[in-house]
Amino acid sequence: MNSEIRITVSGTGYVGLITAGIFADRSFKVTALDVDQQKVDAVNKGETFFFEPNLAPLIDRVVLKKKNLIASLNIVESIKDSDVTFICVGTPSREDGSCDLKYIEQSARDIGKAISQKDKYHLVVAKSTIVPGTTRDLIKETIEKESGKKVGEDFGLCMSPEFLREGQSVHDTIFPDRIIIGQFDEKSGEKLESLFRNLYSDKDDDFSKNWEKIYGKKVSCPEVLRVSIETAECTKYANNSFLATKISFINEIANICERVKGIDVSDVAKGIGLDFRINPKFLRAGAGFGGSCFPKDVKAISHFASSKGYTLKILASVMEVNTHQAKRMVELAEEKLGDLDRKRISILGLSFKPETDDMRYAPSIRIIDFLLSKGASVIGWDPQAINEAKKEQWIGDKITYAERLEDAIKDADACMIVTEWDAIKALKPEDFKSMKKQILIDGRRIYKPKEFLNEGIDYSGIGLGL
Ligand SMILES: NC(=O)c1ccc[n+]([C@@H]2O[C@H](COP(=O)([O-])OP(=O)(O)OC[C@H]3O[C@@H](n4cnc5c(N)ncnc54)[C@H](O)[C@@H]3O)[C@@H](O)[C@H]2O)c1
Repeated sequence: MNSEIRITVSGTGYVGLITAGIFADRSFKVTALDVDQQKVDAVNKGETFFFEPNLAPLIDRVVLKKKNLIASLNIVESIKDSDVTFICVGTPSREDGSCDLKYIEQSARDIGKAISQKDKYHLVVAKSTIVPGTTRDLIKETIEKESGKKVGEDFGLCMSPEFLREGQSVHDTIFPDRIIIGQFDEKSGEKLESLFRNLYSDKDDDFSKNWEKIYGKKVSCPEVLRVSIETAECTKYANNSFLATKISFINEIANICERVKGIDVSDVAKGIGLDFRINPKFLRAGAGFGGSCFPKDVKAISHFASSKGYTLKILASVMEVNTHQAKRMVELAEEKLGDLDRKRISILGLSFKPETDDMRYAPSIRIIDFLLSKGASVIGWDPQAINEAKKEQWIGDKITYAERLEDAIKDADACMIVTEWDAIKALKPEDFKSMKKQILIDGRRIYKPKEFLNEGIDYSGIGLGL
């Protein structure tokens, strides 16, 4: 049944490759499209080119065993032969913070060309994060212009934002909290809802059994909200902006806590998190947020609001507090060491969060940049992201990298916890004894302060009033 519906996914990044993989795992025939030859070649060999838990076996299975997924550079031909296209290309920040829509426009042009060559109805679904109005004003207009066909008649159009978290992308794509469908018309929305209900049906097949074994819960369709296209576009920005706000809010509280002996922001967060109106998630004070989404989306919606004559005041502060947190990490080092010139500072964790090798806008970059500007020498360690870090323009070859965690710690004047990988969380006070000065700055508040202080470690952390 599923194999009758042919799906193309444009863009094989985090969103596209995982969307393609999950549809293919549930027996849909899927072609993942990209403009990057290396990515296409890798997928066709059943390989992945970024790290995500449970992704490698999924791609291996759907490409080599089930043979439901192929990747292609032949974009127009592939779309022509399919029934549904998901647009999952990147929407990076421009210099001024606005959302760069050039990949979206190219993708819409390709879809338009393909639709001009087919007689059958085709459903187009934008999944990329795009500012309100983009689906109607750019995607629809471009497809209609390129194809000479009409939305609502010859092709359908929806916007269905993606909410996956990197580091848990596979989990989140199989078990989404909700599905938002912004529909151009009833028919488009109906078709997409039925496709998702099929993907997430609770039938007892190998797909369900396998994922239940891995994640300990049953596949089932979450609540589906059908809304206007612009509402769907806006929901994604509101969602990420709210989460970023929660993080900056608790970081702001952390900055008060540090000024009063005896307050620990972790306990404050626990206390307010027990209020069901607040909940405990995204209330961990630390070195700030990063990644490919929060900073870019907060900037994009702020820029968009300005273009509509409104200044988003809360979000301007959210970004300001976030930048401050990186500076605060460096201030904590200065409070202990004085001048940082030629001090050896170890950065434990480079990726923007655990379980990913993604370095985009990682807080480690901002912290290292401040440290280097003070003359410090920096050694970094990460279990997955060293290769990506080496490619990063601000830190790349400006720091050294340790292969082993213990080598990063040895002889350091100070260690900073920047990403809470399990291997870092598992460290004990004695693991820091090989440092030159046993100064530990916990930027993720992963350790119990007393345990480290009692063992003679000069421990300080974001939000801890000592
Ligand atoms: N990464 C996340 O955690 C996440 C979560 C939710 C939403 N999003 C949003 O989803 C979108 C994609 O994000 P991502 O992280 O997967 O991006 P990405 O940068 O990892 O991948 C985008 C891919 O699109 C390809 N591409 C560019 N132009 C193309 C074209 N014309 N045709 C086909 N492929 C093309 C690129 O080569 C690249 O492989 C963005 O809008 C992002 O904001 C991302």
